[in-house]
Amino acid sequence: MAATELCTEEEVTRLVHHFYAKVRKDDLLGPIFNHHVADWDQHLAKLVDFWSAILRGTTRFSGAPMPAHIALPGLNAGLFQRWLALFHQTTQALGNEAMRDRADAMSRRIAQSFWYGYQLSRDPDQLPGQLAPT
Ligand code: HEM
Repeated sequence: MAATELCTEEEVTRLVHHFYAKVRKDDLLGPIFNHHVADWDQHLAKLVDFWSAILRGTTRFSGAPMPAHIALPGLNAGLFQRWLALFHQTTQALGNEAMRDRADAMSRRIAQSFWYGYQLSRDPDQLPGQLAPT
């Protein structure tokens, strides 16, 4: 199936908006996002572009996600696991199975790569750890 057929742009928007609504209310993640995101409309628009690129092959996203996360103080494996748990809850609730499979698989890979990058940048002499399976 071509990437453009996996889901509509509207479904991507719903995924991103529902996910960050959960994140903002979360005890662990909410304070981090609310502290670092000054303009939520801009953040949500950027994240719609990001997930649209992954799920629909569009080309609007231009950003530098790895350095943006390396710059955040105090990230740990538990925060990434929580991020993934909320993301998987969101994709499940949307009811598009093909979209859910792809979004969940990509979120696991990207979360793992951010966590590797974070550990390597912050503590280059330690072997970076893996996230537990989600
Ligand atoms: C512990 C987990 C995570 C936390 C606390 C977190 C937090 C944040 C925050 C605060 C920003 C805004 C940074 C800024 O504007 O200065 C951001 C940006 C972003 N995040 Fe995350 N994030 C996490 C995991 C992820 C994961 C797993 C993904 C993708 C699957 C992701 C994708 C993005 C993208 C695409 C941006 C925009 C980066 C840019 O400006 O180019 N994040 N994140």
